Amino acid sequence: MLQPVCPLSEIPPGEAYRWATEPAVAIFHTEDGEVFAIDDTCTHQDASLADGWLEGCEVECPLHASKFDLRTGRVDAPPAKLPVRTHRVAVTDGVVHVELSTEAPNLPPGAKP
Ligand code: FES
Repeated sequence: MLQPVCPLSEIPPGEAYRWATEPAVAIFHTEDGEVFAIDDTCTHQDASLADGWLEGCEVECPLHASKFDLRTGRVDAPPAKLPVRTHRVAVTDGVVHVELSTEAPNLPPGAKP
């Protein structure tokens, strides 16, 4: 089920929004105008990917520089080994909606579920 999260205007291109659901979700608005949602917590350790660096369709973790592909959640650069969970996004009438994945998240040891 798609849930409304925030107006797209609150996420400038190149920026991210941290949705404080459980577990938290990071929503990225790329410079190309695309919108992606992934779990906010890095799969390596407890770092917020919304605080990372967005480049194209990739986010770099702010803690140890793992890179994740926002389209698939795939790890593009270590030290993370497990992919990050992705969520379906739709922008309707200027509002970002997210459908949370039903797959199990790959949260790092010690992170809140
Ligand atoms: S916490 Fe993200 S790479 Fe280590």
